[in-house]
Amino acid sequence: MGSGPPSFFGGVTYTPPDAIFELTKTYNADPDIRKVNLGQGTYKDENGNPWILPAVQAAKEKIKEANHEYLPILGLGSFRTLATELVFGKASSAVQERRVASCQALSGTGALHVAGKMLYKALGRKTTVYITKPSWSNHRQVFESVGFPVQEFVYSSDSTNGVDMSSFLKTLKDAAPKSILVLHASAHNPTGWDPTPEQWKAIGVVVKERQLFPLFDAAYLGMTSGDYDKDAFAIRYFVEELSLEVGVCLSFAKSMGLYGERVGLCAFVSQTSTATEAVESALAQLIRVEISNPPAFGARIVAAVLADEEIRAEWARNLVTMSSRIAEMRWQLYEGLNQLGTPGDWKRITEQKGMFCILGLTPDQVLHLQKEHHIYMAESSRVSIAGLNWSNVKYVADCIDTTIRG
Ligand SMILES: Cc1ncc(COP(=O)(O)O)c(C=O)c1O
Repeated sequence: MGSGPPSFFGGVTYTPPDAIFELTKTYNADPDIRKVNLGQGTYKDENGNPWILPAVQAAKEKIKEANHEYLPILGLGSFRTLATELVFGKASSAVQERRVASCQALSGTGALHVAGKMLYKALGRKTTVYITKPSWSNHRQVFESVGFPVQEFVYSSDSTNGVDMSSFLKTLKDAAPKSILVLHASAHNPTGWDPTPEQWKAIGVVVKERQLFPLFDAAYLGMTSGDYDKDAFAIRYFVEELSLEVGVCLSFAKSMGLYGERVGLCAFVSQTSTATEAVESALAQLIRVEISNPPAFGARIVAAVLADEEIRAEWARNLVTMSSRIAEMRWQLYEGLNQLGTPGDWKRITEQKGMFCILGLTPDQVLHLQKEHHIYMAESSRVSIAGLNWSNVKYVADCIDTTIRG
């Protein structure tokens, strides 16, 4: 203890570390060569290594002469324009009529935080934010940190083998008008169950009827099916067909493999260009207060990918490579467990979408896999499929089998 006056920090209690980042730390420290990291949702190639997308390599070549000046407060102009057109579609009425306010943000998380702050200004502290149960572990704390009450609703169930529409629609019907609804645009984290287009339409109709505000968390667009337009279906349907105001929190961490560059977009569609101008001015103030202006490198890469026809075509191929490898690994894991006759219903591994699925193991079984077999996954038995490859998937299936059989 120091010999100075009493600490100002006596009232600060210890906050446990983030579980997934801790798991990666433990995994990194594990010297066992069999170790497999199925915790963190970062794409790995078939050798288990991080993948620098060829499109990103090409874009980096293009921007290597860029200077190191500050960007404008709202971010790199070309990035904002191109990213906005990417999500909503170039022909979108909202884009054409200048009804999209946007700012560059610190990846998907930063975009969610700015969106939360913006909505707090617009709707006030009594507004409830609805999130799915389960959801990405950061959703609750991001919106609570902004000052909103957060409420969960049951999202999926084994009996529906997908989205639990009756729970979903009941929640929307019971919600107070102007409540905020956080929607995973595609590749729901952690369940891997996405609404079908028909289900999205039904959700949209009630969102409109009840005057709720849809905020899309768009962390996996392009990675889910390999086709960006297809993955953006729900966002575009809400904006174009239902004429709704929406928020979109876009990340390029997964879709371009730019995890560490922290490049994302926060966008709001409004009914009028006057409202859009006001929203954008408020976004500028939020960014100025928080980070003054965003980092340039990642935004320049994204803009270079999207602006160049050839590089953009390469990126489209890269998205197919990533999404197909994930789909293949889903099949391999399913096949492995199926062939072993492992007790459980594994077919859904192949039916779910995106990076994650929940295996339905107990916390004890999860711990056993970690301690005995060096296989790391979240306590909920959520696994990141991208951590699987041809050389470890059979080992993982074998270990799950022996663990379940006790
Ligand atoms: C559902 C969801 N939203 C947002 C994010 C944010 O990611 P980032 O801040 O790295 O873009 C993630 C990352 O895992 C996620 O799974």
